[in-house]
Amino acid sequence: MSSIKLNNLYKDYGQTNVIKGVDVEINSGEFVVIVGPSGCGKSTLLRMIAGLEKITSGTIEIDDKVVNDIDPAKRNVAMVFQSYALYPHLSIYENIAFGLKIAKVDKEIITQKVLSVANTLELVDQLNKLPKQLSGGQRQRVAIARALVREPKVFLFDEPLSNLDAGLRVNTRIELAKLHQSISATMIYVTHDQVEALTLAEKIVVLNEGEIEQFGTPMELYFNPKNKFIAGFIGSPKMNFIKASILNVNKNDCKVMVLDKVVDQSFPISNVKTNEDVTLGIRPENLKSVTLEQSLCSGGVELIESLGEYDLIYIRIPQHELLCMKVEIKNEIKMKDVIHLGVDSENVHIFDESSMSKKWP
Ligand SMILES: Nc1ncnc2c1ncn2[C@@H]1O[C@H](COP(=O)(O)OP(=O)(O)OP(=O)(O)O)[C@@H](O)[C@H]1O
Ligand SMILES: [Mg+2]
Repeated sequence: MSSIKLNNLYKDYGQTNVIKGVDVEINSGEFVVIVGPSGCGKSTLLRMIAGLEKITSGTIEIDDKVVNDIDPAKRNVAMVFQSYALYPHLSIYENIAFGLKIAKVDKEIITQKVLSVANTLELVDQLNKLPKQLSGGQRQRVAIARALVREPKVFLFDEPLSNLDAGLRVNTRIELAKLHQSISATMIYVTHDQVEALTLAEKIVVLNEGEIEQFGTPMELYFNPKNKFIAGFIGSPKMNFIKASILNVNKNDCKVMVLDKVVDQSFPISNVKTNEDVTLGIRPENLKSVTLEQSLCSGGVELIESLGEYDLIYIRIPQHELLCMKVEIKNEIKMKDVIHLGVDSENVHIFDESSMSKKWP
């Protein structure tokens, strides 16, 4: 177990600034997930922690010791990549044992450790095979075993499950969660998968263009996103955004207009001005079909996705992105129906239109 501190970390490739002043403190034994759009610097950040990428400025501390100039092999950090790159001519046993052999660990201890790790990851029956004789999921587990056997203080995972099919992804995700509970190592995990992020993480870092937008627990990010970027990034299908302008403000609430329609509902904020433009953020599960009088806006059904457990109804509102409403499967909604969309006031997020920062809750 190890704590990790990133202090004002920068990384430039020539004129390109990729990491721009990242500060994070990760507690010993914590499972932290990094998410963010493609190209925002997630892999670069992991590679910097692993020591595979030179730091432009700032410091990385592991257990309160600056490791900027410490060789990757001596950092006690293991990294598992998306492409698991096993040695094709070595058996699974030899692949897992490779790092220990290089480190000249005693042969009997190597056997002991490889067997123990193979047992945890259910690879005991595969040890004499070659990588090409294993399925993708088994190979990915070998890559994890190879990292695990070194007993590092810190694990770095760069989208380790993205090559696996849906079923294997779920199984391996559960294995990883169990593994983290049993060895309680510090883990930093990069993924594009919302479910992986929300289920595995104790804390999530949302990175955007090399900067941290928000760092917090999955529930903090989901229910209390700091700005419109986080609100739109965490949660799948993503939050709907509807443009509105403030009609009038009372002591504890305000009224809004959406697309020239006066909405017959009060919203619980007063830190706004008359005529101010705002964005209402509403998650698909909070959007509902109501009467015209109670509605925010109306539009025609453009697409229905039936996902077994529930339906996603996509509705076209003039001058807006498609809005998405999540409804129970027993519904009467058909293509081209006109739906009047409403929401309970307490389920609305309100963002400043220009700065995108949160105004409510
Ligand atoms: N060796 C390099 N030289 C120059 N630019 C680089 C180099 N490596 C990465 N970059 C740039 O740094 C940025 C961040 O890359 P990085 O691989 O960290 O993104 P990422 O968040 O992991 O993206 P993805 O989700 O697609 O894996 C990208 O714009 C990339 O083009
Ligand atoms: Mg990457």
